[in-house]
Amino acid sequence: MAGHLTPIPMASQSVGPLKGTAIIPGDKSVSHRSLILGALSVGETKISGLLLGQDVLDTAKAMSAFGAKVTDHGEGNFSVNGVGVGGFSEPVDVIDCGNAGTGVRLIMGAMSTSPINATFTGDASLRSRPMDRITDPLELFGAKSYGRTNGFLPLTMVGARDAHAIRYISPHPSAQIKSAILLAGLNALGETTLIEPEKTRDHTERMLSGFGADIETVEIKDGFAITLQGRPELTAQDIVVPRDPSSAAFPVCAALIVEGSEIFLPNICLNPTRSGLFTTLVEMGADIEFENNRLEGGEPVADLRVKSSCLNGIEVPPNRAPSMIDEYPILSVVAAFAKGKTIMRGIKELRVKECDRIDAMARGLETMGVTVEEGEDYLIVHGQNGEVEGGGTAETHLDHRIAMSFLCLGLASKKSIKVDDGHAIATSFPIFKSLMTDLGASITG
Ligand code: S3P
Repeated sequence: MAGHLTPIPMASQSVGPLKGTAIIPGDKSVSHRSLILGALSVGETKISGLLLGQDVLDTAKAMSAFGAKVTDHGEGNFSVNGVGVGGFSEPVDVIDCGNAGTGVRLIMGAMSTSPINATFTGDASLRSRPMDRITDPLELFGAKSYGRTNGFLPLTMVGARDAHAIRYISPHPSAQIKSAILLAGLNALGETTLIEPEKTRDHTERMLSGFGADIETVEIKDGFAITLQGRPELTAQDIVVPRDPSSAAFPVCAALIVEGSEIFLPNICLNPTRSGLFTTLVEMGADIEFENNRLEGGEPVADLRVKSSCLNGIEVPPNRAPSMIDEYPILSVVAAFAKGKTIMRGIKELRVKECDRIDAMARGLETMGVTVEEGEDYLIVHGQNGEVEGGGTAETHLDHRIAMSFLCLGLASKKSIKVDDGHAIATSFPIFKSLMTDLGASITG
């Protein structure tokens, strides 16, 4: 994925209601972690429902390069024969993580406390994203990193020869920073503590505990302290990957804005550190029923029934941002169809995602005839009460979620819309187009 790929222009238009059942692919965050923790454990981890997105496939390839045996049994069933904590071998070539910030940051963390070196790269988007937020704390373990100016990829990580545990206060609400440190802490001597200001997605903690690590989260005055005992033996597990709420967000939001729609989405992961969008949509007046709430594989899941709805703009509480950080692009599309303003504050992390998502959504929405206000850490969308003009071409900047968000907008706008390049959709939701088409959407490209 590091090279230049030919753009795939795409288009969408309004043709009628969305109806039917949407089987959403496996969760991207859990898929990355299943492969990495499988590789760091002893025995054979069996994974079902793995997301077959390019980001995850790049992580699978990387785990093989570090010495694990990863086998694809077809249809999302994988097995990983792990090398155990501290058992990574040195890759003989550059690790290309494609578009995946999660992949590269978690893998860097996982290898940084082993006495090996590895060089990482990725596509143009990943090569422009900050890595110092990861390399700074990893250097405290004794690792060294040599990247481009500002720590950009390509970057070589020289793993610590004799890593000692650290205590680190994360300056950003980021599960990637937290997870990189916890994975590094696995092979460090002593107790690693990570303090995060706000609770971010907790799949790493849940899964580390499931693999047998001694890990504990305590709420403290300034946030949450997560403490991991170093050098555990992790034991292989059977993992059923829950379905991705961040992917479900697209058909859910499309159904809300396309008149007359009614869709059903079984088995969606509703981990509270991921479900902020659904809370927000319900506050806006969305008709979403959560049926059969249950626990599966240590994660809360439910079946969702969604009907098109008249929505009102709201102010999204800034402290909800970590639980819906990837959903602001599609929320801003929904907001464009709502009545009144939707105010999204405390979202500056969006500026360092696959692209600057505040800027990409603001420019794209303007192209579609929607008024927005933008600041360093906020976006305000002026709702058009169901009447969005459309007709423009949105620039997607190698960002899957920007592409899918605008394609959803085009399903309900007066005029059809185009996106300049949809190829990044394959990184997280490769069946997006066919799934949406099966529900009755018109998406081409
Ligand atoms: C992810 C964490 C989030 C999110 C990303 C996936 C993860 O990033 O945006 O898509 O799996 O840990 P940050 O933790 O940097 O906010």
